[in-house]
Amino acid sequence: MHRRVRIDSDIRRATTLPASFYTDRERFARLRESVFAHSWQFVGDELQVTAPGDVLPFELLPGSLDEPLLLARGLDGTLRCLSNVCTHRGNLLRSEAGNCRKLRCRYHGRRFGLDGRFEFMPEFEQAADFPRPDDDLPQAALGSLDGLLFAGLQPVVDFAAWIGPLRERIGFLPLSQFRAEPAHSHDYRLAAHWALYVDNYLEGFHIPYVHPDLAKAVDYESYETELFAWGNVQIARAGGSECRFDGSDIAAYYFWLFPNTMLNFYPWGLSVNVVQPLDLDSTRVLFRSYVWRPELLGRGAGGALDRVELEDEAVVEAVQRGIRSRLYRQGRFSPARERGVHQFHRLLSGMGG
Ligand code: FES
Ligand SMILES: [Fe+2]
Repeated sequence: MHRRVRIDSDIRRATTLPASFYTDRERFARLRESVFAHSWQFVGDELQVTAPGDVLPFELLPGSLDEPLLLARGLDGTLRCLSNVCTHRGNLLRSEAGNCRKLRCRYHGRRFGLDGRFEFMPEFEQAADFPRPDDDLPQAALGSLDGLLFAGLQPVVDFAAWIGPLRERIGFLPLSQFRAEPAHSHDYRLAAHWALYVDNYLEGFHIPYVHPDLAKAVDYESYETELFAWGNVQIARAGGSECRFDGSDIAAYYFWLFPNTMLNFYPWGLSVNVVQPLDLDSTRVLFRSYVWRPELLGRGAGGALDRVELEDEAVVEAVQRGIRSRLYRQGRFSPARERGVHQFHRLLSGMGG
């Protein structure tokens, strides 16, 4: 039986999550259900499913939840996120993107509308009380941030509340003009627990030590973290004459939305990062770029994302080796610089950590 971790609400007194949190396999599996199965996850953008009848199968949080889902644009234009699992005996309905008028299971011919409603099944004339509501395809929750799509199975927070604080702060950016840029998108793999990667992301404290070049692009003294209910934003102001948003001194907004979504806004556009737990000590991080002003790529705080990422991975992997120590139990927080990490630990411990 596990002792429930409790993180003091007073950051001045609190201790961090214990090392055992990151090394305990049972807790890792428990968090998959208590945290990730109730979270919002980035899915992609609406431009992948624009025409009525467009369908796109995908897995929610591959490597962890692996939930088979399907984006389906109804003939009336409504976009839905449906289960991709046939309600008869569980075959996957679609294996590829395409355009269709109906969803037809290739196993025994069950047919659904693009709204997920059961329509037809051969050889079931004698079945009593058929069809029932649970013969329809279950729907997942779907949210859109100006065309960026997020899905959730049973999200603990509604989409508007989850995304709202970000929407308020970046309302001045024309997000619908941002375009996916696969050439600037990468998948990274690191040998560390997913929460260690998030811990590192949530503080700018390490910038002067770990990222010498980034440290020149941002002003460390004025770096700040604002917390909201289900996430936070780190605001980095430009150092010297470095690249910034027009009409302000801001070089980057680093939004984190519980538990594993990061939206980093730079003068050139947006880098979405998704942290995917693969195993207790193995994590994949997706970087998906949406470019708005290509002429600013390569400049300022968002200029050398690959180098910064590799610097972060090196230190996070070193922490992964460190927390296995028999001599390390847990640490303390800097009240000045680690409010985001403290918030993350509080949220995690409150959700079954
Ligand atoms: S599993 Fe789909 S029709 Fe049988
Ligand atoms: Fe970093």
